Amino acid sequence: MKYYDSVANNPAVIEYLKQADKNFKALGYTEQGLLHAQHTAELVDKILNCLNYSLNEIDIAKVAGFLHDIGCAIAYPEHARSGAIMSKIILNKIGLSFNDILRIISIIGSHEDIDMIPISDLAAAVMMADKTDVRRERVIKTDFKFFDQHDRVHYAVVSNILEVSKNDGTIKLRLKIDDSICSVLEYFELFFSRIEFCKKAAGKLGLRFELYINEIKYL
Ligand SMILES: [Fe+2]
Repeated sequence: MKYYDSVANNPAVIEYLKQADKNFKALGYTEQGLLHAQHTAELVDKILNCLNYSLNEIDIAKVAGFLHDIGCAIAYPEHARSGAIMSKIILNKIGLSFNDILRIISIIGSHEDIDMIPISDLAAAVMMADKTDVRRERVIKTDFKFFDQHDRVHYAVVSNILEVSKNDGTIKLRLKIDDSICSVLEYFELFFSRIEFCKKAAGKLGLRFELYINEIKYL
């Protein structure tokens, strides 16, 4: 990839994401640093590859996916906006063109705007990848008795597969939840807004979002 490898291996980027991890650990939140960045970029790659986007477009979207939560190095509130400004400085130093920087920072800056439709197809892919990243590995706490609802929901997800099908026009999230840890109802309580993001993102990509939990279709 033209830009992605330079960004994902940039020492400053890695330090910022490690700082986001430290902040979230101190706050007792789920992981939103380096591993989430890598996972988001990989999912963006998968989504756009399945939809036959060009390598250049995938590269731009993967950079945005990798950097989208970098603002959490400063603070969670307004992290999309702070992350966009941080990314502008970083990408300028790495040497991306002004036009590509603009495309990337607008994706990062708008990725939490639930009341608006995604600003582009690439923004929709980043939003979909971000909001479907629900995994046991994102739970930082090690003692179950300190788990909050967020931790329980993530911990309960034992399998998470995102399937993109251009042919039938769907993007399917298939989750396996251990319902001895968290009920399906609890999942919906906590992730209702994420589902809204996913529906908007799928629509922008010309697809319909479907959600399966323990092989039952809910959406
Ligand atoms: Fe995120």
